[in-house]
Amino acid sequence: MLMNLALIGFGNVARRFVQLLDELRVALRDEHDVECRVVGIATRRHGCAMDPAGLDGRQALETVARGERLEGLSTREAPRDALDLLRRLAPVAGAAPLVALETTTLNVTDGQPAVDHIRAAFDAGAHVVTANKGPVACAFGQLRAEALARGRQFFFEGAVMDGVPLFNLFRESLPAVRVLGLRGIVNTTTNFIIAGMERGQSFDEALSDMQRAGIAEADASLDVDGWDAAAKTAALMNVLMAADVSPAAIDRTGISRLTPAQVQAARAAGRAIKLVASAWLDEGGPRGRVAPETLEAGDPLARIDGVANAIYLRTDVMGELGIVQCGGDLTQTAYALVTDLVSVRRRL
Ligand SMILES: NC(=O)c1ccc[n+]([C@@H]2O[C@H](COP(=O)([O-])OP(=O)(O)OC[C@H]3O[C@@H](n4cnc5c(N)ncnc54)[C@H](OP(=O)(O)O)[C@@H]3O)[C@@H](O)[C@H]2O)c1
Repeated sequence: MLMNLALIGFGNVARRFVQLLDELRVALRDEHDVECRVVGIATRRHGCAMDPAGLDGRQALETVARGERLEGLSTREAPRDALDLLRRLAPVAGAAPLVALETTTLNVTDGQPAVDHIRAAFDAGAHVVTANKGPVACAFGQLRAEALARGRQFFFEGAVMDGVPLFNLFRESLPAVRVLGLRGIVNTTTNFIIAGMERGQSFDEALSDMQRAGIAEADASLDVDGWDAAAKTAALMNVLMAADVSPAAIDRTGISRLTPAQVQAARAAGRAIKLVASAWLDEGGPRGRVAPETLEAGDPLARIDGVANAIYLRTDVMGELGIVQCGGDLTQTAYALVTDLVSVRRRL
């Protein structure tokens, strides 16, 4: 089945996704009946492009790599912005399923402009796939209700732990199970900085490594101050624990005050300092917290080093379930978008 794709945001994740689609093209077509055509791209500073007959993904990649704008790829007047693109793609949604892939910059305050992009995509008849945790952390309940009411699909596997099937696992394989709480290490950049300081790197050197790899957020203070982890905690609570919280509701402390001496002293004493995200139910409802914790050696999170992430879910029926990602980079986040596309296809 041919699926038309509108790429809202064309940064690190979306560009790797375009390459990965090409790398997985035969398997997606032969094993999952998914064939994709990019019909529109919207960015903030690199312009927009639209062609209902299909844009050349490789050409788009080369254009932005040269630092040029995308308008020249359009066969008709280029859209002004993401909302204009989605409006003008609405007729395309009648011919073949249209899927908007939202990968714009994270905003932990209100999830914008991604929330507006997702609503505009629903208006245009599109299903939505996103790796942006902002909308899931800030407006999940409303967006899910709007998607349901309008017969649209809304998937967000890449919002937490890249392509590791966490939300898919819960949705597809744990029917009727209640998540009572969770604990995890969910921010790669801070975990890498802590591991780097344990090895003798300075805070800034370790952060620079993550920025060079395209893993740190565009605004690295979102990682260092715990906002990214708080947004993921809110997203996990909203989806897995039926909460209705935003990142600001998470009790949050970042790692900016940690020093190499502190993390090395903890290691020397057989412990480990980690930025731990946790959520639990109390009488007032679900509560969340992100803070550096000194963990005993026997704590499974104490062994989650460097680029690894882990989440342990406490459930009513299945006891405790642990999901460990030994390493992740842009390919795994891009793959999350691919798995969500296959999920859309399976429901059509
Ligand atoms: N990088 C990772 O490893 C990773 C992992 C999991 C989740 N994520 C999430 O995935 C999303 C994308 O990450 P990224 O690393 O690809 O970010 P990025 O490289 O900074 O790219 C963001 C893209 O969004 C575009 N954009 C921003 N505001 C826009 C607007 N109002 N309208 C249209 N386009 C807009 C930017 O346009 P310009 O190109 O013109 O600046 C850029 O193309 C973020 O929400 C991030 O939290 C990233």
